[in-house]
Amino acid sequence: MKLITIAIDGHSSCGKSTMAKDLAKEIGYIYIDTGAMYRSVTLFALRNGLITEAGIDEESLRQSMADIMITFCLNEETGRPDTYLNGVCVEKEIRTMEVSKWVSPIATLGFVREAMVDMQRLMGEAKGVIMDGRDIGTVVFPDAELKVFVTASADVRAQRRYDELMAKGEACSLDEIRANIIERDRIDSTRAISPLRKADDAIVLDNSDMTIPEQKAWLLEQYHRAAGED
Ligand code: DC
Repeated sequence: MKLITIAIDGHSSCGKSTMAKDLAKEIGYIYIDTGAMYRSVTLFALRNGLITEAGIDEESLRQSMADIMITFCLNEETGRPDTYLNGVCVEKEIRTMEVSKWVSPIATLGFVREAMVDMQRLMGEAKGVIMDGRDIGTVVFPDAELKVFVTASADVRAQRRYDELMAKGEACSLDEIRANIIERDRIDSTRAISPLRKADDAIVLDNSDMTIPEQKAWLLEQYHRAAGED
């Protein structure tokens, strides 16, 4: 069976990671959530006082990049990989509203992107990987055999994120989440370095009206086609 690279890009909270994780589990590929990597850098910056009311202390963050190690480790219980920052699981901490608020500005910084892209290319070097993010099909793996660009309406995405946070018991407001999603779309799509955009050869999936099993079946079909197993 041909091992391929699968790039899944798209807007915030459109269910990319759910689809990607499910497919990885089904076909035995490694799943890399690159958003979790930018979130981990943001958490590191928050914890080390590099983000204050005045903004991001870019120079100190630049100097600290060598101290940030991000790894993924399969959680036997969930069957999905958890994110580790310097050896400590931060899967829950990186999903808070505070991190969500700062992650897009952090992800606009060139030195942060360079470091993350280098790590991502190493992680995907051997193929057999599904990576989700914003610039995977355009910058990280422009030669990926399968590229999918996922989107859904802002209302649908906000409701999904709200349900997810509520299920985890985190207090949140639907309006605040919706505003955060719209703002992140704006920053992600207009930043100078590697803005979010569909690769010319990506297949678009608008999943606003699709169930999770429908998305899963759709993605599996695309994988079979791309890996030449049909
Ligand atoms: O997928 P997510 O919502 O967890 O991503 C968090 C942020 O990280 C998002 O606002 C944009 C940024 N990001 C990025 O710039 N490039 C990636 N490859 C992945 C995420």
